[in-house]
Amino acid sequence: MTISTKPMTTTQFVVEVEDIDLSKPVAGTTVAALRKAINRYSILVFRDQSIDNDQHIAFSRNFGDLEIHTVKQYLLPDYPEIIALANRGENGTTPIENGGAYWHTDISYKAKPPMGSLLFSLEIPPEGGDTLFADMYAAYDALDDEMKDRIAGLRAVHGYEARFSKMGEGGKRPQLTAEQLAEVPEVTHPIVRTNPENGQKALFVNEGFTLGIEGMAKDESRALLDALNAHAMKPDFIYAHHWRVGDLVFWDNRSVMHCATAYDTNYARRMHRTTIQGDIPI
Ligand SMILES: [Fe+2]
Repeated sequence: MTISTKPMTTTQFVVEVEDIDLSKPVAGTTVAALRKAINRYSILVFRDQSIDNDQHIAFSRNFGDLEIHTVKQYLLPDYPEIIALANRGENGTTPIENGGAYWHTDISYKAKPPMGSLLFSLEIPPEGGDTLFADMYAAYDALDDEMKDRIAGLRAVHGYEARFSKMGEGGKRPQLTAEQLAEVPEVTHPIVRTNPENGQKALFVNEGFTLGIEGMAKDESRALLDALNAHAMKPDFIYAHHWRVGDLVFWDNRSVMHCATAYDTNYARRMHRTTIQGDIPI
């Protein structure tokens, strides 16, 4: 089984997958082809989809067990596998306004960060609200040999609490409870991450959740992280996804980081995300 894809940009890491209706069960051979494609491209875009919550969850489960987010007030009632990124909330979920508007990799603060995320667009503002993606394979490849040597074997500390309290959202966002905090202790991950499925190396740090470098003085660690982040955010490595209603974007958290862009919050924006569990980064 092959799937039909077409390039979305001149960059190599994003393709549109054509001729698949995600509201229907997808054959095992197609799932295998999609798995191969996500390893090859990092970002798969499916346009013009019309799926309900059960179908979104069923499609996502083809790629692994699903993550349940620590902050339960964002989860759809009856569908804890779905986090509602909705600026007006949905069925009582806490509204998220301009969430994720900083470079990050979803849930990199866990010991086993999610392999992938599948974001489905239901309501979008007329302008803005794009999602920027950075190709961390390309960012790693483009580092000079001296920097590659310098970061080989280094581990970075990732955490959620500092970012969560920074987000604030005008006081609307509560602090993490003791129970939630216990779920997200700081963890360390290699700065150079290898995808075990294809052997490719990616830079694995992000502005959102990476706090420092293990065993390195604070100033030196900050300077190195800032340099790596600035490098990865160069336009050469970035794809901007301009959402249409009915887009489902499946990205590989092992090899891309992303950032939401601002929009006029007088307009509704509502997206649903499922998140596929992953392995301990190597
Ligand atoms: Fe995100």
